[in-house]
This record gives sequence, structure tokens and C-alpha cells, in this order.
Amino acid sequence: MALDRFGRPLRSLRLSVTDRCNLRCRYCMPEVNYQWLPRPNLLTFEELALVASSFLPLGVTRIRLTGGEPLLRQDLDQLIRMLADLPGVDDLALTTNGVLLADQAQALRDAGLHRVTVSLDTLQAERYQALSRVDGLTKTLAGIRAAQEAGFRRIKLDMVVLAGTNEDEILDMLAFAAENDCEARFIEYMDVGGATRWQPKEVYSRDQILASIREAHGEVHQVEEGEADSPGIAAPARRYRTASGQLFGIIASTTQPFCGDCDRSRVTADGHWFDCLYASKGVDLRQLVRSEDCLVSLEEVLRGHWQARDARGAEKRLELGKRGPQFDLDTLLSDPRLEMHTKGG
Ligand code: GTP
Ligand code: 5AD
Ligand code: SF4
Repeated sequence: MALDRFGRPLRSLRLSVTDRCNLRCRYCMPEVNYQWLPRPNLLTFEELALVASSFLPLGVTRIRLTGGEPLLRQDLDQLIRMLADLPGVDDLALTTNGVLLADQAQALRDAGLHRVTVSLDTLQAERYQALSRVDGLTKTLAGIRAAQEAGFRRIKLDMVVLAGTNEDEILDMLAFAAENDCEARFIEYMDVGGATRWQPKEVYSRDQILASIREAHGEVHQVEEGEADSPGIAAPARRYRTASGQLFGIIASTTQPFCGDCDRSRVTADGHWFDCLYASKGVDLRQLVRSEDCLVSLEEVLRGHWQARDARGAEKRLELGKRGPQFDLDTLLSDPRLEMHTKGG
């Protein structure tokens, strides 16, 4: 086990397997041109598995694969199989936009993937296209169905709520989740990475989300984690239950950050390790992995850096008071790893 400067353990590792994405969501990739990671720099599956296994002695038990869009990475099920075999991995999950999920769900399940989270910001086809620049709603919905048929249960549906764009669909999403045995999660728009169009007035806060739901459903109660009938892992979401018993989550990284409990870190597809979503510099693990005698040094390097960690990026953003996009376009183009789609959403 390793604890950082604030006594926080490292339990959750997010591995980005590609920086590419087949959507262009307005809150994540609003620009036309991007600086992509050079292909030869991407870690191979063997290298990714080696990196993942080096984190286990530090206390990591949960691994999530992200992107960009992780299903764009060829033969992803092979990587899942390698990670599922690692001893001590209790939770192996994937975050996807769902567009390619219908074709891959069964193979992912057979390979040993435990859980799937699907990003779904709207249930309206035209709005989906306006938000992501792709006409993909039908495919994403088919992906969710296929994942259920393949045996995935309690799929989480992540909706980034943008004031003035899709907040009128909060109740529809809740109803859709109830009908389809999924867990809806409402996410505040974050001033992170590539969100170059971020502005405070587009943030629909946790308090506003709760107010919308209370207006329609009456009182909702916060759920204590560990409650017998609310299985799953909540953080960074806080979970609630409606009067009719439906569970849902809210992720309020913008207005009520959870840095104090943050037990996560992320590795980019080219092997840079970031100890915070808002960090602008990572540790180059690829160089170590591709050097000789890496096994000894890798674990030592990870431990040393985690113990020195004092990251609290989202809280610092909140303390700024007057907020705008984290980076301007020139800065993003000079370093692709500052992008959320490279760090892993
Ligand atoms: P589980 O709890 O394991 O289901 O995963 P998760 O909640 O981490 O899920 P997911 O990967 O779907 O992340 C959901 C959202 O939480 C992201 O899209 C971000 O908006 C936010 N988030 C994820 N990681 C971080 C983080 O390290 N810091 C902050 N501030 N927000 C994060
Ligand atoms: N604010 C909040 N969430 C974001 N994501 C990407 N960019 C942002 C942002 N600016 C998250 C969404 C999406 C996942 C892939 O990344 O939750 O579902
Ligand atoms: Fe949208 Fe996720 Fe792709 Fe970003 S990485 S553009 S949030 S689907």
C-alpha cells in the first residue's frame, strides 16, 4: 500500500488505450484539429499489462479502460483478458460512448470485463448529432442493449448536463435508466483539458439537478455507501434514491469536488502517468517500460511519486473563483496530454 501526502491511498487506475475518438462531444473535443499521439509511442498490450501489474503492489484493485474511445483500439478483448488474469483486480471496467459496443459487447464480456459505463448525454437523435457531431444515437442505444444481452448488469449511463442544452432531459434519462435497469449518473460540466468552450453559465450544478428531480419525484435521499441494496462503487459519484426507490448518481467535480477522497490516477495511451485529472505534467512510464531492468524501477518510481502527491486539482479550480477554460488552444496543441480525451475521461 502507498499513501500520498494527504493520506490518500491509490486504489483506482484508469488506463487510456487510445487518444482517438469517433465522436466530437462539445464539452470534450470542440475543436476541428488535434495534435494526436504518435502511433509508435502507444503502449502495446504487453506494456499496458506490465504497467498495470506494477501498480498492484501499491494498492490498486480497480482498473478502468478509457480513451478517447477505447473500442477504437483493435482487439481490445485481448487486453481485457490479460488484465482480468492479474491477481487482485477486483473491478475491471470500461468507459465507452457505446457507438461500437454492439459488435464488441460479447467478446468483452467473454474476455472477463466486469462492468461497462456508457456516455449518453441525450435520448434525442438530433441533439446527439448536435452535441457530438455524429449521428450515433441508434448505435449507442443498440450498444447498451447488446451489453445487457451479453450479461452486463447495472450499466451506468453518464450524462454531462449542460445548462441550456440538455438539462431538460434529466427526467427522461432517469426514466430511461429505470426502464432499462441502468444507473443514471448526472455529471457537472468541468473546466478541464480540452473544454475550450467552458463557461460558468453552462454548468448545471448538483443542487440544480437535485431540484429538478425533486420537483418531479418528491424528496430524494442520499444513500449511505455500503447500504445492502445499493451495490457498486459510487465515488466520485454521490448516490441518491427517489421515493420510488430508484438509485442514481451525481458527479459534482465542478461545484463540490471530491479531491479529499481521490484515490485515482491515470495513464495515457503513450504511458504518461498523471496523479490528477487537472495535472499538466505526468511521469513518463513508457521510457522506463522500454528500458532494461524496468521491473524493479517501475514499482519504486510509482511508489515514490504517489507518496509525494499533493494533487487537489478540482478544489484549486474552485478556489480560483473566477473560472474559464483550463488551457487555451495553443497550449493544448503544444501538448496533447493536456486533453481530457488523452488523459482518459
Ligand atoms: P466507477 O465509480 O468505478 O463506476 O467509475 P467512475 O465514477 O470513475 O466513472 P467514470 O469513468 O464514468 O467517470 C465519470 C466522470 O467522473 C468522468 O467523466 C469525470 O467527469 C469524472 N471524473 C472521473 N475521474 C475523475 C477525477 O480523477 N477527478 C475528477 N475531478 N473527476 C473525475
Ligand atoms: N466535463 C465533464 N465530463 C467530461 N467528460 C469529458 N469532458 C468532460 C467535461 N468537460 C467525460 C464525460 C464523458 C466521458 C468520456 O468523459 O463523462 O462521458
Ligand atoms: Fe465525447 Fe468521450 Fe469522445 Fe470526449 S472522449 S469526444 S467525451 S465520447
